[in-house]
Amino acid sequence: MLDIHTAAATPPPVIRREDYRAPDWLVPEVSLDFRLDPAATRVLARLEVTRNGDHARPLRLDGDGLVPLVVRIDGAAAADTWRMDGPALVIDLPGAAHVIETEVEIAPAGNTQLMGLYASGGLLCTQCEPEGVRRITFFPDRPDVLSRYTVRLEAGEATYPLLLSNGDRTDGGGLEDGRHWAEWRDPFPKPTYLFALVAGDLAANRDSFVTRSGREVDLAIWVKAADVGKTEHAMAALKASMAWDEQTYGREYDLGEFNIVAVADFNFGAMENKGLNIFNSRYILADPDTATDGDYDGVAGVVAHEYFHNWSGNRVTCRDWFQLSLKEGFTVFRDQQFSADQGSAAVGRIENVRALRASQFPEDAGPLAHPIRPEAYMEISNFYTATIYNKGAEVIRMLHTLLGAQAFRQGSDLYFERHDGQAATCEQFVQAMEDASGADLAAFRLWYAQAGTPRVRAAISHEPASGQARLTLGQSVPATPGQPVKQSMPLPLRVALFGELTGRVLAPEQVVVLDGPTKEVLFEGIGERPILSINRDFSAPVVVETDRSAADLAFLSANDDDPFARYEAMQQLMVDTLVVAVATGTADHAPVVEAVERTLTDPALDPAFVAEAVLLPSEAFVGDQMLVVDPPAIHAAREALRARIGTRLEEAWRAAYARGQADRYEYSPQAKGLRRLRTVALGYLAAAGVADAAALAFAQFDEADNMTDRQGALGVLANGRSAEREDALDMFYERYRGNGLVLDKWFTTQAVSTRDDCLDAVERLARHPDFTLANPNRLRALVGAFASNQRAFHDASGRGYRFLADMVIAVDRLNPSTAAKLIPPLGRWRRFDGARAGLMKAELRRVLEVPGLSKDVFEQASKSLG
Ligand code: PHE
Ligand code: ZN
Repeated sequence: MLDIHTAAATPPPVIRREDYRAPDWLVPEVSLDFRLDPAATRVLARLEVTRNGDHARPLRLDGDGLVPLVVRIDGAAAADTWRMDGPALVIDLPGAAHVIETEVEIAPAGNTQLMGLYASGGLLCTQCEPEGVRRITFFPDRPDVLSRYTVRLEAGEATYPLLLSNGDRTDGGGLEDGRHWAEWRDPFPKPTYLFALVAGDLAANRDSFVTRSGREVDLAIWVKAADVGKTEHAMAALKASMAWDEQTYGREYDLGEFNIVAVADFNFGAMENKGLNIFNSRYILADPDTATDGDYDGVAGVVAHEYFHNWSGNRVTCRDWFQLSLKEGFTVFRDQQFSADQGSAAVGRIENVRALRASQFPEDAGPLAHPIRPEAYMEISNFYTATIYNKGAEVIRMLHTLLGAQAFRQGSDLYFERHDGQAATCEQFVQAMEDASGADLAAFRLWYAQAGTPRVRAAISHEPASGQARLTLGQSVPATPGQPVKQSMPLPLRVALFGELTGRVLAPEQVVVLDGPTKEVLFEGIGERPILSINRDFSAPVVVETDRSAADLAFLSANDDDPFARYEAMQQLMVDTLVVAVATGTADHAPVVEAVERTLTDPALDPAFVAEAVLLPSEAFVGDQMLVVDPPAIHAAREALRARIGTRLEEAWRAAYARGQADRYEYSPQAKGLRRLRTVALGYLAAAGVADAAALAFAQFDEADNMTDRQGALGVLANGRSAEREDALDMFYERYRGNGLVLDKWFTTQAVSTRDDCLDAVERLARHPDFTLANPNRLRALVGAFASNQRAFHDASGRGYRFLADMVIAVDRLNPSTAAKLIPPLGRWRRFDGARAGLMKAELRRVLEVPGLSKDVFEQASKSLG
């Protein structure tokens, strides 16, 4: 049952961090017994409960839509000592310890929320984070109640030959009537949200890993039999992650088994259930014919992320959901470090920052802004955000920068040692870092409390006579909802100076900590005019404003020795050019064209880096720089600059394109970089309107022996008007119509198209027989992708807004947490002109008027309306 909320009804209660209270009752041991059946699953639970502290309060077991068929206390049916309080089961208990048994029946086949026990493609599986266990059994469903689990699973053997749960399998066997059972025991106490089970007919890619203390771990990745061949990359990533966490953080795996299961219907990327990670199949399955290089990176990154949670999340978990970034920020940082160590660190950092700017900066600047440790929520599912995850990771990275790698590692060791087996807080993490390093992190704690992206102003002045250069820094943290006034935060800024004339490093990189509203830094012995390189490697998650000229930015884009700073200088040059073009209708393209040419033709550079550096910032990012976003003007300005870069550098693009042509597919960093640059070059040739662009793209599409080249070419064709376009889209559809993950790409490619008729196409695709609201991947592929297409979504007619609101309303009936994730684009109305803002607000109001709205959507829509 969903909570029912409309604008007219009482709003859902607000949960506040300051109201945290330790649990009244603990559950050190639990046994769960599942009689599995898609239509009617029986769940028998046996909880050993102990009173926590000196109080007389009853035991309160969370439930969501559950009816207690049996309630037994210490073995006896006790009808008069329990009662229902709304969805919860409340039991008055006399003693300090009791045994509670309950029995309920649930219907996984009808569970469209994909939260709790649900069915996906013939499987039965669970998703319990954050509050799914209450949809399975009565339990204190909060992360600070840690229990040892024994789980017995029983099901029909023909349909469900595989029965998995957390920990290690301890027993099992056959039963009458074609049923069988298995028992699993997890020796590590864990919160409810890490419980999992899977029943189904799956095949495994099996392997093993020997930990550094010599324990052998059986690894298995479970997928549909036909997909086993697509699990090699995930398995390699798993083993690499296990070794990396030993080497880098001293963390060893702790069970005899590690199982991963891939499912097609999943609300998120994956889930770190203890010893039984459950994945969205898009982050497991990869082969050259169906997965792009980006998909391969996603698989490795998410496999690593979930594995790393075994320590940062599972061995040490969160006291309450306000501490979510304790596990997520730290674990994202860890997976970013891992990916940087495995591949190109420079390109990895560029991708981290691009993702942060695309999703977290807008969040921090809008009505849903919240600190990485929020103060209040209505529905915790709404707080699995880019702020908690990605800004959270940046905050951990700043600690790493401020303390240095060695002290950071000592702090992490101390944190794991102190809190192993506990449910901890962000504060305890910072305290461990402080205690281990001796650093004073009092002011740093503001990063946990304040929302909003700080803005830094930086200017450099130079006195040739004295050889002194003075760097003047200032910071301000913008107001966000509920936080009108902010304090200055410590910002670690990596800074270096370069000589304009000689190109030499005048001041090598140093970390300047801007720890007040302003700061001045003096450099001596600076003999020529210095050019400022600042926030190198994106050392602080801030917006930097400088008065660097186009010439200075061009210089840095060609000469800076920090690859991120080089990329950043080019981006800034491009953004400055586009902002002028939008404001005045015209801009000097020459500096950008020259800078792109220099990067493109520099033989010393890694092609993967070149491909990132020469890409124009997205339309949305340009919009973020403007007071009032003008989507068609931004689109026109960006397309004009793209065309100019394409035309002026046609020969260089053709050369880059030819260079990227490989004899045959290979998965290596070099080959990946060349493929990326090749499709970027193709895009510029198409933008230039060269006569053979469509032919080139179609040939690449048709002859490709890998998905990166094929989808890259399809994307270029999809933006154009050639006859080849429709052929390629049809061919792609026919070839992959049986593969859901690839079909998602077909939807996305059309939803992000730059064509004028994109909105019509999206409306048509929503009626396509392969479109479904029930699968979150498909929904994101069409609707999520479309909402990121600034020009199409913000069509002046308001049809894009209406389309999105219709989707929110329809999906909310099935899957509230996924519906709620579609809302933020409508909440950005303050950044648009009055006409668009009015249309956006009208759609938010229309959503809020729907009777029976979930609290997920209610919270996001009402906050978005402001
Ligand atoms: N905890 C998961 C992760 O970050 C994400 C997740 C949250 C998955 C909620 C499902 C539901 O790895
Ligand atoms: Zn995570």
